[in-house]
Amino acid sequence: MNNREIVITGFGGSLRTGSLNLLLLKDAANHMPAGSRLDVAGISGIPIYNQDLEEAENESVTQLREKIRHSKGFLVVTPEYNFSVPGYLKNVIDVVSRPSRLNPFTGKPGAIMSASTGMLGGSRAQYHLRQIFTGLDSRIINKPEVFVTFAQTKFDADGHLKDEPTIKFVRDLLNNLVSEAKKHME
Ligand SMILES: Cc1cc2nc3c(=O)[nH]c(=O)nc-3n(C[C@H](O)[C@H](O)[C@H](O)COP(=O)(O)O)c2cc1C
Repeated sequence: MNNREIVITGFGGSLRTGSLNLLLLKDAANHMPAGSRLDVAGISGIPIYNQDLEEAENESVTQLREKIRHSKGFLVVTPEYNFSVPGYLKNVIDVVSRPSRLNPFTGKPGAIMSASTGMLGGSRAQYHLRQIFTGLDSRIINKPEVFVTFAQTKFDADGHLKDEPTIKFVRDLLNNLVSEAKKHME
């Protein structure tokens, strides 16, 4: 890493080993604009939120929060569960954003993508996620919206995106995210 490199922290909303969203998240690293890098963070060690434990030390929570805090932006790649955000992802955001003085999402540029096996590509989850990040005062990139529909057909055998229109949307969103992150560095 060099000092001028823009680091974006990415995390996913699916815990499943064969997750299509995890493939999308990992492949996004190959589509980052020059001078930037995606650092993919795991979320599986984050405990269930309990306000009684807000001030308690937890290494997984501190690590993820600090990773986001030290990066110039974040990327969330999530499935849609029952027309909304997966419960565990909402929990991760709740845990990491509290106590509110430690919320790493405040003022931070962020981007969202979703992949689904259905024809709406997780759009409803994305809109709910945008609302959550409004509550946290993040700067979520509006466009392009990246909804990967019928996601089981969009990756090659090595787990890379193979659908050119999807790749263009992903690249455009990542470019916009990194441009926004640069503005926040000025
Ligand atoms: C609990 C559950 C609820 C789901 N609900 C939706 C849904 O509301 N909309 C949708 O498009 N797909 C839904 N799906 C299908 C997911 O799009 C599909 O399982 C997808 O592969 C999950 O993402 P992943 O591969 O990253 O784990 C649901 C799947 C599960 C397991």
